Amino acid sequence: MTLRIDVITVFPQYLTPLELSLLGRAQESGLYELHVKDLRDHTHDRHRTVDDTPYGGGPGMVMRPEPWGEALDQVLARGEAEPVIIFPTPSGVPFTQALAEEFAERSHLVIACGRYEGIDARVAEHYRALAEVREVSIGDYVLAGGEAAALVMIEAVVRLLPGVLGNSQSASDDSFAPGRAPGTELEGPNYTKPPSWRGMEVPEVLLSGDHARIRSWREEESRVLTQQRRAEA
Ligand code: ADE
Repeated sequence: MTLRIDVITVFPQYLTPLELSLLGRAQESGLYELHVKDLRDHTHDRHRTVDDTPYGGGPGMVMRPEPWGEALDQVLARGEAEPVIIFPTPSGVPFTQALAEEFAERSHLVIACGRYEGIDARVAEHYRALAEVREVSIGDYVLAGGEAAALVMIEAVVRLLPGVLGNSQSASDDSFAPGRAPGTELEGPNYTKPPSWRGMEVPEVLLSGDHARIRSWREEESRVLTQQRRAEA
């Protein structure tokens, strides 16, 4: 089944990079479908208002629930099987390769991109009863809105779909791929031609043609790198 992704945002143009390169080709080939919806099409006042001041005080603005309710109802009314609604937020669960793999198995992802100080909390609560809701963070830093996070998640998910990567670029050796042994999550260095560049040689083992030696060399490089960069302090 073709994966359908709906993105709801106040900046539909933010998603245009998805027309490029690997993801653009995947869309053209029908390997996944992307539908971007403007949240402001679900406002009914002259100023197309989507935000308001927070109850309880505090800085910034919060997105009002009504436009989100209308937009999400319309997307869910399509009746696609088992939708997942993803709310990108710095207070979400970490987005990982495992979560990308999980989303790549689904048939309908709806990404609700908040701006400002986020979306009125009743929206996620309401839809929890109607769909699977995931609040997801792409890292411990704060973006101006969920759109960049949506781009990141869509790219990570779509490249895992069957047919998107060619055989020669399988995702199975990637850093964080599910088959990697514990302690070797990070993929080590790669080399190509020429064998000698600015006095630096490609490691001899990679030219040896001995696949068992190459495999164990790569595993050791990966172990050292993972230890250096990801050891718990
Ligand atoms: N929105 C703002 N910051 C974010 C983050 N780190 N991850 C996901 N969505 C966000």
